[in-house]
Amino acid sequence: MGVTEQGDLTEQETATPDYTMGYGEEYLQALLRVSAKTHATHLLPYLEPGLKVLDFGCGPGTISIGLAEAVAPAEVHGIDMEPSQIDLARMFARRYGRDNATFHVGDVTAMPFEDGFFDVAHCQNVLMHVPDTQAVLREVKRVLKPDGIIASREMISGSSFTHPDFEVLRKAWDMFEDLLAADDGHPQMGKDMKTHFLEAGLVDIRVSASFDTFTTPDEVAFIHQIAQQWFLAPEITEAAIKYGAATQALCDQIGVAYDRWKDHPGAFAGVAYGEVLAWKPTS
Ligand SMILES: C[S@@+](CC[C@H](N)C(=O)[O-])C[C@H]1O[C@@H](n2cnc3c(N)ncnc32)[C@H](O)[C@@H]1O
Repeated sequence: MGVTEQGDLTEQETATPDYTMGYGEEYLQALLRVSAKTHATHLLPYLEPGLKVLDFGCGPGTISIGLAEAVAPAEVHGIDMEPSQIDLARMFARRYGRDNATFHVGDVTAMPFEDGFFDVAHCQNVLMHVPDTQAVLREVKRVLKPDGIIASREMISGSSFTHPDFEVLRKAWDMFEDLLAADDGHPQMGKDMKTHFLEAGLVDIRVSASFDTFTTPDEVAFIHQIAQQWFLAPEITEAAIKYGAATQALCDQIGVAYDRWKDHPGAFAGVAYGEVLAWKPTS
């Protein structure tokens, strides 16, 4: 067993740096819409039964469960610093009968796994939140076998859009970027990964890009709900105003514009992503 004696870290032992998205019900709804089949398409062709997989920053584990299906009966380990997300991931694993998926509370910069334990390491929208990218990549490299694969999919906020814009919705993206940067996050990580992976000494780096798109009535209603109930919720807008990323008047304008957007027949939103696949060198 490659999990070190340290096992799960307790909440107290776990580093809990600021995490811009929070763990509220509204943002959780966004995470529950993702799966390996829809959001790990760059990695799935490389998975086969028997490969041991790490899903670092796994959140509620909806991607981890699909990865576990692809490599069964081999082990998949998900790790996240937030106990409530790990509880959800364990619940989903039980619900889908994925007994090869195990979940741990812990920090991705200090993981409770032996050196060279995994064949594959995966993450989505995690590097954008952790201040020290090289610290994460060093740790992931440590727990990967030589010739192991690392696959990451991260947002490019600057290339994401909400259309029509009503001359204000781009400012919501700007506000999100300022807020994330104020928490030492990286809003354009999807574009920066190639540079970081090269610097980390990873090889055979393959880069691609894609959009998650939202255009059907259900998808438009979902984005509207996320904007109104999560992004424009007092905890987020108060932080944005405190950091100088917004004013109350701007938040009010954005709220009105999102209501107009929801009812516009041409409503279309796209969240841009960069994807990277890379290998740990054999020596
Ligand atoms: C946007 S969510 C993505 C969850 C999942 N990868 C997905 O795409 O559905 C980011 C996750 O990274 C976790 N996270 C952020 N910084 C972390 C750290 N230093 N150690 C462990 N987990 C971290 C958060 O707790 C959160 O659950």
